[in-house]
Amino acid sequence: VFAHLEQVPGDPILGLTEAFNADARPGKVNLGVGIYYDEAGRIPLLRAVDAVQRRLAEEGAARGYLPIDGLPAYTRATRELLFGVDSPLLAAGRVTTAQTVGGSGALRTGAELLKHSLPTARIAISNPSWENHRAVFGAVGFEVLDYTYFDAERHGLDFDGMLADLRRLEAGTVVLLHACCHNPTGADLDVGQWRQVIAVLAERALVPFIDIAYQGFDKGIDEDSAAIRLLADSGISNFMVASSYSKSFSLYGERTGALSVVCADADEARRVQSQVKRLIRANYSSPPSHGAMLVSGVLNDPELKLMWEQELGEMRTRIHALRAGLVARLDAQGAGRFAFINDQAGMFSYSGLSRAQVDRLRDEFAIYAVGTGRICVAALNDRNLEYVAEAIAKVAD
Ligand code: LMR
Repeated sequence: VFAHLEQVPGDPILGLTEAFNADARPGKVNLGVGIYYDEAGRIPLLRAVDAVQRRLAEEGAARGYLPIDGLPAYTRATRELLFGVDSPLLAAGRVTTAQTVGGSGALRTGAELLKHSLPTARIAISNPSWENHRAVFGAVGFEVLDYTYFDAERHGLDFDGMLADLRRLEAGTVVLLHACCHNPTGADLDVGQWRQVIAVLAERALVPFIDIAYQGFDKGIDEDSAAIRLLADSGISNFMVASSYSKSFSLYGERTGALSVVCADADEARRVQSQVKRLIRANYSSPPSHGAMLVSGVLNDPELKLMWEQELGEMRTRIHALRAGLVARLDAQGAGRFAFINDQAGMFSYSGLSRAQVDRLRDEFAIYAVGTGRICVAALNDRNLEYVAEAIAKVAD
């Protein structure tokens, strides 16, 4: 049955973690995968999450099946966090949300829904984009196009190029957009630029699909969902949002995500939700319960929610400080040309390092980065910062 199957290359991001784990060199640093590590180099267990976890353990919480579309207290709280508690769309019942297996599960379920509804549509993703976007949409049978996004020379957004490419897309094309903390470049749109993009999406009858995996990691919870709020106000009647709590709740392995679909009215929302449930049931039946119970336990308790917002704020502030620390140390090593790292948002920096330089970082210094030059700034700490800066300065020389 399997004799003819060939070996395929390892995943460009998660495959790095496998190689990192197998590396016996002391002092190794994994700047590959997007995970926030604390100052001690550990994945933090947030205090608010810990409080709910303890309560669930004490209660001996039951582990029955969740509904196909997830825990209602989780999906409601998720909608409110994304769209804002006072959103008229929520009041009108126009947004339907399903809990999914991480943000990837949301993208996949959303892709399947779109394929079912618009079988001939194509999708356009930013160039570059998260490595898995192309794979997820390709797996569902979409032709995946690129739109210009990044100017590698200037290490920033190529906004004119982006608008020009979006204007060229055929009506009905799905456009995948990163709400904040663009992965991998860290180059984001400001509010004025979002308004212009949304005007083009409306004018060209394009179908927005927002991926928001880092809400709260750049400016704040509401600020980082500006794109969603602006789209909600735009009059565009349909768009989709794939969201994830992996980073914002430090719950990577719990796979806590959600797919929200904005519909023309409440009746359409009910029909869409029935379709989403059908897709999920035929895929993994129903989502896992533990992570959703943790998140909804925090978001539905005002005190714990406040505690979480503070903890999220601490992670955000620390990432900004790590960026500044890396730039300062690189500068001290004579590599002042990396100052642009300070302007990038979120966990990642698109360092501009070539594949050969990334290979040297791994081979000579046991520092792992994505082959495209993406580094995870949130994996730095006071103990490895100097070492990483020295190594980057050496390979980039
Ligand atoms: C990343 O981009 O590193 C994260 O989103 C983790 C992943 O699944 O790739």
